[in-house]
Amino acid sequence: MPVNVIIGAQWGDEGKGRYTDLLAEQAVGVARYSGGDNAGHTITIGSEIFKLHLLPSGVVQPGKLAVLGNGMVINPAHLLEEIDRLTARGVDLSPTRLKISHAAHLITPVHIALDRAYETARGEGKIGTTLRGIGPAYTDKIARRGLRVEYLLDTASLADRIKTHVDAGNELLTKLFSMEPLDAQRIANEYHEHAQRLHPHITDTSLLLTRHLRQGDLILAEGAQGTLLDIDFGTYPFVTSSAPTTGGVLTGLGISHQYLDRIIGVTKAFQTRVGAGPFPTEAEEAVAARLRGTGANPWDEYGTTTGRPRRCGWLDLVLLRYAVRINGLTELALTKLDVLAGIPELALCVAYAADGQTFDELPLGPANLEPFTAVYETVPGWDEDVTGVRRWQDLPENARRYVDRIGELTGVPVTLISVGPEREQVIRRYA
Ligand code: IMP
Repeated sequence: MPVNVIIGAQWGDEGKGRYTDLLAEQAVGVARYSGGDNAGHTITIGSEIFKLHLLPSGVVQPGKLAVLGNGMVINPAHLLEEIDRLTARGVDLSPTRLKISHAAHLITPVHIALDRAYETARGEGKIGTTLRGIGPAYTDKIARRGLRVEYLLDTASLADRIKTHVDAGNELLTKLFSMEPLDAQRIANEYHEHAQRLHPHITDTSLLLTRHLRQGDLILAEGAQGTLLDIDFGTYPFVTSSAPTTGGVLTGLGISHQYLDRIIGVTKAFQTRVGAGPFPTEAEEAVAARLRGTGANPWDEYGTTTGRPRRCGWLDLVLLRYAVRINGLTELALTKLDVLAGIPELALCVAYAADGQTFDELPLGPANLEPFTAVYETVPGWDEDVTGVRRWQDLPENARRYVDRIGELTGVPVTLISVGPEREQVIRRYA
């Protein structure tokens, strides 16, 4: 069966991009199914570092189809910048390769202004969004007043649609938030220009993907964000506005469930989170700083999209088991095992405690984490540098024990383990 899915099993930033890039080798194409340029995927190939926000991570592999699915919200100005940046580095992003769903939604300057306005209004209770206009764009989609990518194909009506949209946004911006109105004509002109360039890429990507799947081609579905940021299953309201989970693959690409095969959950060997919200295994600053890194390396724990330092802590297996259940994960792909080297004792959160009771499942899901404290099991660490290891049997014994324990406690095998940022710094466990 020909769809392999890569899903974030935590709060995003798990390192999905590197596995998408790796697994894209076997696929004819890579399709993103949710989110927008709130995502930030970093791929390291030799001395080259590619930072992607909208394009699927598979684009760096020559000849692969790159699809932006209908479940996405797309800022056309940012997409064109990304296309130009990668094209200048020799990546082919011609319309035969890069396909954009006609049914995806457009992000506009109105959405970005509203994202900022709502965040400011929330004050202390702010979500800590990426301020990319994601929430307001999905709000318009669900309220049935959004701007679909296919509207770019009808240039005769585009200006009117944009003006109606900007006028409605200006009502909110000026009356609710006392902000300056945005210039509808200027935005209409900009979107007219974007339409000229994006026009040849727009198609029914559901049909395109299904044709490939019917002939047995392998497609990689690339998730953005992570399970705990899912609008339904995440730490609501500290979530994004889309479905990064397996359900989102079907609705975000318009493909049948019968094609799903491997569902690979990507998790760091520890836990991180950007933005506000509960985080039961958040470590004290000395440990967190050790896990985060100084920021000197591109792989240190600072946001690709916002540059914000990430909150860091111990791996939470209660939440990881939850991600296995919600997504039907068939396997786990671990990242950043190398970062744990040199920590004498590692903690794994195996359960939660509240009111003298212990829980190994979340009674009311991750939106209700506040009452709980983490129950840890400790395992001995290792000192050896593992960045050069490529075979499972060459890992230090304690590193193998740590990984095995993750498999035991989640009930799914850990099949891939990364030990550094380079494409080949991966241990394929059952290969
Ligand atoms: P939004 O998606 O910009 O609305 O942000 C909502 C929440 O999701 C915030 O806590 C963001 O920090 C978080 N978020 C969105 N995209 C990502 C991502 O790609 N990685 C990690 N966190 C993200």
